[in-house]
This record gives sequence, structure tokens and C-alpha cells, in this order.
Amino acid sequence: MQTTVDRTGLGRLISAAGGSADGITAVIDDLGADAVAATVVRELLHRADVPAGPDVAVQVGLRHGDATIRYGLQVGSAGIAHLPEPVGTPDASLTQDLTEVVRSLFGPRGAQSSASRVVHWGHLEDPSAFDRPLPAYDVVRRLVDALDRPYDIGLAELCVRYGSDKWGHHTYPRRYEQHFGPLRDQPLTILEIGVGGFGDQHRGGASLEVWRRYFPRALVYGLDIVDKSHLTDQRVTVLQGDQSSPADLARVVEVMGRPDIVIDDGSHVSAHLLASFASLFPVLRHGGLYVMEDLQTSYWPTFGGRAGTYDDPATSLGFLKTLVDGLHHEEIVGRTPAFTDPDIGGVHFYHNLAFVEKERNLDGGAPSWIPRGVRQRAGVPD
Ligand SMILES: C[S@@+](CC[C@H](N)C(=O)[O-])C[C@H]1O[C@@H](n2cnc3c(N)ncnc32)[C@H](O)[C@@H]1O
Repeated sequence: MQTTVDRTGLGRLISAAGGSADGITAVIDDLGADAVAATVVRELLHRADVPAGPDVAVQVGLRHGDATIRYGLQVGSAGIAHLPEPVGTPDASLTQDLTEVVRSLFGPRGAQSSASRVVHWGHLEDPSAFDRPLPAYDVVRRLVDALDRPYDIGLAELCVRYGSDKWGHHTYPRRYEQHFGPLRDQPLTILEIGVGGFGDQHRGGASLEVWRRYFPRALVYGLDIVDKSHLTDQRVTVLQGDQSSPADLARVVEVMGRPDIVIDDGSHVSAHLLASFASLFPVLRHGGLYVMEDLQTSYWPTFGGRAGTYDDPATSLGFLKTLVDGLHHEEIVGRTPAFTDPDIGGVHFYHNLAFVEKERNLDGGAPSWIPRGVRQRAGVPD
């Protein structure tokens, strides 16, 4: 397959997909139409989820200027594959403007359009096509759905599809939908600590796949202490590092830039969660979310938690509770400022899960003439 655009190019394409057709076309010209066509075909194949089935050959044509860039796709017992050459006599062909395809795949909710699409079926002259569906119908239906309905899939379904324990062992998708839903069509940078599969280099990546599908415009990064870099794919970059090492995290930020979302599903050791938060919360963008999973470990000494005392700020939950005071830092007399105080917009606790919103927290507090001590309250006897 033709070389796809690199991560920076992909970021440009995604951002352009939220703007005008002329802007998208200009970025396509700049990145090279062939490389952009290869990128969208790869994305399309990933999202279409075409299962193994009877032999079907489909040709995808992407119009740009006077040219049409053609790709052959072959479905068979091994699933769907991309052919090095266009298909001679396809069972179906789908042709659409490249600019429109870029906008459909990488644009925000509501930007999808099929105005320039033409579909031709190869066997309509065969009378049997009238009384049973052609195998090509389902393949084309999946490709078209991937283009037209990138936001029509829920998190629980994605977790089941890719085998993430976020649904099943846990019931996190409901909470993730609540907080992530409004951000879903934004061009985001997302980091998840903990790729999965633990010591097995060849396992893991389930939740990275979930985020890649759930956020069609996101660049997704995974960090694991074990080298799982072979899971790197279009829109997914997997890095190796220790979440408790500020130097490793600085290297991650150097590669990825400032994140909009951080999800900590790594070692679940309290000291590691706190170290990651100290390095990553300051670089999280305003409007972003910092999520910690599996917080039950805050009560388990094997994970650096405390069994009998619940407010120790050296544990993950004990620390998160201090952020609630940080939310009110402007109201607290004589408080020693915490580095988080000016940037805590909200803290949401659920079973084993917490979301911290990063926002400017500098409203100014209550007016200074309101007495802070109960005993000084004007006109109220002690
Ligand atoms: C629970 S799994 C992650 C599951 C994955 N997020 C999912 O939902 O599919 C935890 C992962 O964290 C990794 N891990 C453990 N200690 C770590 C550390 N100190 N730094 C980075 N990753 C670590 C493990 O290798 C393991 O793959």
C-alpha cells in the first residue's frame, strides 16, 4: 500500500476536516493526494469491521482534481485485505471525492456527507441478483456506514468488541460516556497509562483500540512499562516507560505534546498514580480531564494503599480528596497553596473511578467583608 501520512500530517488533516472544503483540499495538496488516499483507505478498513466471508472484490475510487486514485479491496476467508492493484472486474465500486471522505472520517459530528458518492454493482445483469442479496451488498454497507456514521457506536459495545475489561470486570463505560461524550468529536490528544497484557509483549492494546474508535478525530497514545510498541498503528502510538519516572513522562510529553485527556490504568500503586499526576496534570490542557481507574487499590497495602485510615494523602483516594479542598482554595484562610489549586475545575468520584476536570479555578472567592470566623459573625451571639 502507498505510504500514509505521518502523525503530524494526520493531525493537520484531522484539524482541517473540521473546516471548509477548500481548507481540506489545500491540506490534501500539501500532504500529497496519494498519501492522503492511502491514509483514508487504511482508516476506512479499520472502521468497517468487514468479517471473513465469501469472495468479494470492491474497488474504492477517490477523486481529487482530475484524477481518481483507485484501491482494490478483497474480502475472503481471511477477512478483508488491500490489493496492490485496482480490481479488474469488481463486484462493486464506490467512488467519492477525497475531500468529502476526509471530512466524513475525520470531521466533527454532522460533517459527514455522501453527496459526491457513486456506487456501482457488478452483477445487476445477473437475474439471480433480484431474488437474493449479493455478498457485495454487506461489504459496501459496512464501508458506507464507516464513512457516514462514525459516531454511532457506544463504549460498552467497543469494550466488548476489543476485549477491554473496562466493561465486564468494571462498569466504567457509563461514566466515560457521561464525561467523554461531549468531547467525542473534538481533535484530541489522549494518553492512557497501561496498555494491557502485562509482561506479555504481544498482548494488550484493547483500550487503545476502544479510544481510537470512540474518538474518530483523536491521536491516541499508550504508555506501558513493557515494550508494546508493535501495537503502534494509524492514530495510535505506543511508548515504553515507567509511569513513576518523571523523566520517562517528560519524554512522552515531548513526543505527544500536551494531552487533552489522561487515563491512568497502569500499576495502580498509589505512589505511581501520584507521581504521574504531578508530572502530567500541569501539562494537561485546560478543559481536559484526568482519569484514575481502579481506585479500590487505595485501600490495599499491597498497592501502597492504607487499610485502616482513609485520608492519607499518600494514597490515591486520600490525595484526590485533598483536591476537593483545592477547589475552595480561595475561601480557605491561611492555606498553603497546592500546585493544583488554580487549575481544579471539578472532581467526580464513582465506584473505583475518578475524573478530575482541569479548568481555571480563580473565581475570586467570597467578598472580603464576610467574616470568616463563626464567633465574629456580626450581630450573632456566641
Ligand atoms: C490493567 S492493565 C491496562 C489495561 C488497559 N488499559 C485496558 O483497559 O485494556 C495495566 C498495564 O499497566 C502496565 N504497568 C504496570 N506498571 C507500570 C508502570 N510503572 N508504568 C507503566 N505501565 C505499567 C502493565 O504492564 C499492564 O500492561
